[in-house]
Amino acid sequence: MWLTLLYCCTGGGALLYVLYKWVIPHVVQYHPGLTLFWHDRIVERVLDTLTQSTRPQRMLAAVHNNATRGDPRSVVKAIDQFCRQKEWAMNIGDEKGCILDSVVSEVNPAMVLELGTYCGYSTVRIASQLPPHAKIITLEFNPQNAAVARQIIAWAGLGEKIKLIEGSSGDWIPKLKEQFGVDTFDLVFLDHWKDRYLPDTKLMEECGLLRKGSILLADNVICPGTPEYLEYIRNSPRYKSQYFKSHLEYTRVEDGLEKSIFLG
Ligand SMILES: C[S@@+](CC[C@H](N)C(=O)[O-])C[C@H]1O[C@@H](n2cnc3c(N)ncnc32)[C@H](O)[C@@H]1O
Repeated sequence: MWLTLLYCCTGGGALLYVLYKWVIPHVVQYHPGLTLFWHDRIVERVLDTLTQSTRPQRMLAAVHNNATRGDPRSVVKAIDQFCRQKEWAMNIGDEKGCILDSVVSEVNPAMVLELGTYCGYSTVRIASQLPPHAKIITLEFNPQNAAVARQIIAWAGLGEKIKLIEGSSGDWIPKLKEQFGVDTFDLVFLDHWKDRYLPDTKLMEECGLLRKGSILLADNVICPGTPEYLEYIRNSPRYKSQYFKSHLEYTRVEDGLEKSIFLG
């Protein structure tokens, strides 16, 4: 009887492991709602409880273990490997990251604003391509995420180029000129909560942070989606807008970036 019980437990455990590690991730990777629910609500909570750590902390450990200090490319690679092999996370990711890289290299910005730092993955990607003397200001309102991002940025050796401000976009956008001597931004990367894209764009317009030719690059315009922002940016005579089709980070769900030129 004990042997039967042992077989049942081992078999059940193995079945659960196969479901958790391969079957469910494979099935949900094509479905926008299910994929976010599985990775964000189920896996993250289970792993947080089992490991008594947070996803950003686990990502930081992966950077410390696998990336070379002072080498931004190895930091980006370590995070992508962690997210593809261990745990999904809401960085822009490797696929859309290539689109981000090409926009940064085309714009060659002197002043960048990023809304939504999370663990600093896209911040590192952007900063590593900036010309000398260029700067990026990145805003993050979650203190735990900001603390991890600071360590990842320091590990990448990019502290000089990046100013991480802790606080909400709605509070900080109106203070950027006065407190940081910003004139206008050449490039703004929008990647915070999706319902803030439109109000923050209007706020940046009001505060005079955009100049003729400034570029707005918005992530996740399809998944989770930003319908009000797209409606505004595609129909306003003040912008010329273009969609770059791709996939939600580390999945096969459609997502994309919207690149919009401010016409003044
Ligand atoms: C999708 S993640 C950013 C991912 C990051 N850009 C990357 O690709 O590596 C969104 C982040 O924005 C932050 N956030 C959301 N709304 C915000 C707001 N209004 N102001 C500042 N940070 C915000 C969240 O706490 C979260 O860490």
